Amino acid sequence: MTRRWGVGAPRVEAGGGRMIKTSLPSIDVILPFAYQRHSFFICFSFLFLMKLTIIGSGYVGLTTGACFAKVGHHVMCVDSNPKKIETLLAGQIPIYEPGLEEIVKQTVASGRLKFTTNTEEGVDFADIVFIAVPTPPNPDGSVDLRYIEKVARDIAAVIKSYKVIVDKSTVPVRTGQKVAETIRRYAPTIDFDVVSNPEFLREGSAVADLLDPDRIVIGANSPRAVALMQELYAPFVAPVLVTDINSAELIKHAANSFLALKISYINHLSAICDAAGADVEKVAEGMGMDKRIGRAFLNAGLGYGGSCFPKDLAAFTTISDQLGVPFNLLKEVHNINVAQLERFVKGIRDSLWVLQEKKLAVWGLSFKPHTDDVRSSVAVELIRLLVAEGAQVVATDPKGMDSFRVFEPDLAMKITLVDDPLEAVDGAEALIVATEWPEFSEVSLAEVKKRLIAPLVFDGRNLLDPATMKEMGFTYHCIGRNQIMHS
Ligand SMILES: NC(=O)c1ccc[n+]([C@@H]2O[C@H](COP(=O)([O-])OP(=O)(O)OC[C@H]3O[C@@H](n4cnc5c(N)ncnc54)[C@H](O)[C@@H]3O)[C@@H](O)[C@H]2O)c1
Repeated sequence: MTRRWGVGAPRVEAGGGRMIKTSLPSIDVILPFAYQRHSFFICFSFLFLMKLTIIGSGYVGLTTGACFAKVGHHVMCVDSNPKKIETLLAGQIPIYEPGLEEIVKQTVASGRLKFTTNTEEGVDFADIVFIAVPTPPNPDGSVDLRYIEKVARDIAAVIKSYKVIVDKSTVPVRTGQKVAETIRRYAPTIDFDVVSNPEFLREGSAVADLLDPDRIVIGANSPRAVALMQELYAPFVAPVLVTDINSAELIKHAANSFLALKISYINHLSAICDAAGADVEKVAEGMGMDKRIGRAFLNAGLGYGGSCFPKDLAAFTTISDQLGVPFNLLKEVHNINVAQLERFVKGIRDSLWVLQEKKLAVWGLSFKPHTDDVRSSVAVELIRLLVAEGAQVVATDPKGMDSFRVFEPDLAMKITLVDDPLEAVDGAEALIVATEWPEFSEVSLAEVKKRLIAPLVFDGRNLLDPATMKEMGFTYHCIGRNQIMHS
């Protein structure tokens, strides 16, 4: 695991609006200390334990709950979906997230992690109640806040004593105020505080991100709530930034939109590289060596997808419009993302002319590797476009096929799903790489070549090596590195 902290990197803490800067030692010192500190808290958890409840036990709620339990707290995970809770009570994990299953098993066995469908049981149990329910997009790009509002009403209906209500879902600025107003309306006599504590985990590395976060943001307007949140996060070694609620909410949308911007920047550059005869990876490398820019998120590909970036960018764009400060830059970030996929599909069409009835192998369904999440996956959008043109798609994914069948039942009926990447390419006109699973780079290219009708590969994630592909006699199309095939 790599971290950006070096010797003397600033650690930012704040309390009561005051920021304190101290120096941190290098990561070699921090990481063992972080794990020792987790173990220390587990050994002496009776001294530090806090009780918390998480309402919404999905990718964020379940992983957050399990990680809080791992560091010694007592956690109740609530979900309104009885099937999900039944699965968890039966000792199974409803999602794929590396390392999560083991932690859930350990913490359940130790009695520190419990599950229920009953919100009242959850609220009674805890000092701190997290909200981690979905915040999906409305068709106009604004955020559908009905799940948040419902949880606020559910909490108000059962709250009996002081609690800190923490919003972990990604929400538009000023949602904390609305949550507080809602609870106050239905439970006018009970004292409580609302906190915004945005989550920055990345699916696929969520456990590591939660146990060893880059930063912890606590948005609160009450010193009592800040103190409880700081106590809760005491077992974690990370900079803590305390802000007001509105700023904390904005931090999450601003950060995700900035990352999407970086992706669109390199993706548009990839088109320029192809037009000019340059190599986008070299350009990214040269840019990334500048510490002010950094190499992360400068990997050209099919565009960003997943359950966060598209919706968070749309939400932030809409919020900015509503606030009377249109963020037109973000509109262009979205346009570039759409154009990137269209350009890729055009490349396939340019080679194969008519896609009707052509068998195409697609490697990848999940929106990125190491997750089974196919929500707003560009790989799925790509398949939708190919199917719309009449192509016969045969797809495979190491972890995403079950969730694809659940989330995209109609599309799943129109394609063939196979377990083996080589079976997918059998008799296909072309191979399309849509998700950069490391497993795919281990498949024998000689075998791929033998099984394809013609050695034609479209690599939407720059997973394969252009020089090798050229040497092996493939016609290989990739993103912003096509000059290598023509040199
Ligand atoms: N997935 C990510 O990578 C990620 C990262 C950071 C932030 N977020 C944000 O976290 C929030 C949750 O995302 P997720 O991916 O975990 O969603 P998810 O769909 O995986 O999980 C949400 C869970 O909430 C449950 N739920 C809905 N209404 C409920 C209610 N009234 N009571 C109890 N449970 C209820 C659902 O059944 C579901 O299990 C979203 O706002 C998202 O934007 C997600």
